Amino acid sequence: MWKPCAALLPASAGERRKAVTLPPALYHAHHGAFAADLPFWEALAARAGGPVLALGCGTGRVALPLAAAGFPTVGVDWDAAMLAFLQRRAAAGGGSLPLGLVQADFRALPFGAAAFPLVVLPCNTYTTMPPRERAAFLRGVARVLRPGGFFAFSAPNPALVAALPPQAEAEPEAAFRHPESGLPVQVSSGWRREGTRWTVRWHYDTLHPDGTVERVTVSQTHWLAPVEAERGLLKAAGLHVVAEYGDFDHAPLAPDAPYWVVVAQRL
Ligand SMILES: C[S@@+](CC[C@H](N)C(=O)[O-])C[C@H]1O[C@@H](n2cnc3c(N)ncnc32)[C@H](O)[C@@H]1O
Repeated sequence: MWKPCAALLPASAGERRKAVTLPPALYHAHHGAFAADLPFWEALAARAGGPVLALGCGTGRVALPLAAAGFPTVGVDWDAAMLAFLQRRAAAGGGSLPLGLVQADFRALPFGAAAFPLVVLPCNTYTTMPPRERAAFLRGVARVLRPGGFFAFSAPNPALVAALPPQAEAEPEAAFRHPESGLPVQVSSGWRREGTRWTVRWHYDTLHPDGTVERVTVSQTHWLAPVEAERGLLKAAGLHVVAEYGDFDHAPLAPDAPYWVVVAQRL
């Protein structure tokens, strides 16, 4: 079953409850190998040119390959631990990559107007923003885009999620060795859906040699309004949708497509 990446943010800026954040090493061990979307972002960068602004860059799953492919890239994340992990990964590759990292909330981008020809927000992060924050966020993206520049993001397909059962108990989803301790880790996940609000919960269970299990649980809510409403928000911000897909191979956005992948242009 398709599952979205675990994003690590609190519910919203206004409701900063204490979020349990996943250590970057665990996040990366779980999601770092996902590469099906990388050619898509690289093709966009080849079309738009750099510098590329990679929002919510996390451990660099997308930002690092973009920089390694020669596209000057600026990664933004508000999580210092994620950025430090990414910095170590970039350094481990040797050589100097055209990669800048900025710790910031991407809802208040600390860049000048028209600074980037391409802004990307991969890995289902757009829909983790509560709907009331999106109009201002999109205006901020439009501000830092050059005229003619592109904003692209990928999200869970709202129509697919709307057709899911309202609740799913946690089921095993992945297993790997802990990247630091080498201990076995099992990841299980389940969800709950109420209207357009879909909360996914992941348990990360590390098995210790004495048989005890150390559990870290993170959850993430997505607000999955129908795509028509989101298109209106984009348009109001001056971002005109020029392409929409249901996956990263350019399949059409059908109701059962796994993703909603959007490319919008600032005219
Ligand atoms: C699901 S992860 C995606 C990481 C990476 N882009 C990838 O594709 O694997 C989402 C990332 O967005 C960051 N993030 C979420 N909301 C943010 C915000 N408002 N400002 C900056 N970073 C944010 C989180 O800290 C996390 O690292």
